[in-house]
Amino acid sequence: MTATNSLTPRLGYPHLGFGVGLRATHYPYILEHEPAVDWFEIISENYMDSQGRPRYVLEQIAERYPVVMHGVSLSIGSTDPLNLEYLARLKRLAAWTQAVWISDHICWTGVNGVNGHDLLPLPYNDESLNHVIARVRQVQDYLERPLVLENPSSYVTFRESTMTEWDFATSLCEATGCGLLLDVNNVFVSCFNHDLDPLEFIRSLPHDRIVQFHLAGHTHCGTHIIDTHDNFVIDQVWELFRLAHELTGGVSTLLEWDANIPDFKTVHAEVLKARDFMHATPMNRPQVTESLKIEPQRRRAVPQPASFITAEAE
Ligand SMILES: [Fe+2]
Repeated sequence: MTATNSLTPRLGYPHLGFGVGLRATHYPYILEHEPAVDWFEIISENYMDSQGRPRYVLEQIAERYPVVMHGVSLSIGSTDPLNLEYLARLKRLAAWTQAVWISDHICWTGVNGVNGHDLLPLPYNDESLNHVIARVRQVQDYLERPLVLENPSSYVTFRESTMTEWDFATSLCEATGCGLLLDVNNVFVSCFNHDLDPLEFIRSLPHDRIVQFHLAGHTHCGTHIIDTHDNFVIDQVWELFRLAHELTGGVSTLLEWDANIPDFKTVHAEVLKARDFMHATPMNRPQVTESLKIEPQRRRAVPQPASFITAEAE
């Protein structure tokens, strides 16, 4: 029996149901209507320093709904020392919101004290794995709870990688006891960009360590996909979700929508579509094995997507 199998599934964290990422544009609707959404995920950094309206709104929401904290600046893969001041603020916010769990990403976001505000991928090898293992242990000791880490979407790979992303994540879980946030859309995006098999990715993960799913839309640029969170979830990602649901037995599921954000009802309705895919049977769903294969014409170098991002930012 492996260490993974001997641990409590999902680290003992509850199945919260179907949640939505809390965004400021929805504050008035949520406060007025108290929609029947199961839970909210907040971006930790949006509330760590605020004492104004965001904090006032969050206080009311945290009284009525379960809240999970999702960070973007832990920078667990960086060679910088861990930012203990950041961790202190993270821990204080978790206590204040009664956060059910705290998540971030398997990535690095800066070096030499500079936060690049981007979720940058790591090379996957023994050296980076041991580096991240040591830091996850340090963070978990400080936060006094298991950390949950998400697979990022990525646009580059490293010559120095000697293992797959899913083997890296599995070894990280086994060594540290941390959990995984499986972003199903990120799997699709990264696998398209790097000519990998999304089915193999999802099948190879330690399913009892997956605490949460993310779902989101993306932007297909023909030769590559950008993880823009600006649209509905595409059918192929729903099919990957169905597979992930089957393999995990179902975990807390959350929709991220960060640009061109529609009204709250539309966002909530999108995550509730997950129920249809959970209950899909082989008779009424498309065959995922064939539909998710990457077409041969896509197997070519991925251009640098920065120009696309810059154009949007401008
Ligand atoms: Fe995500």
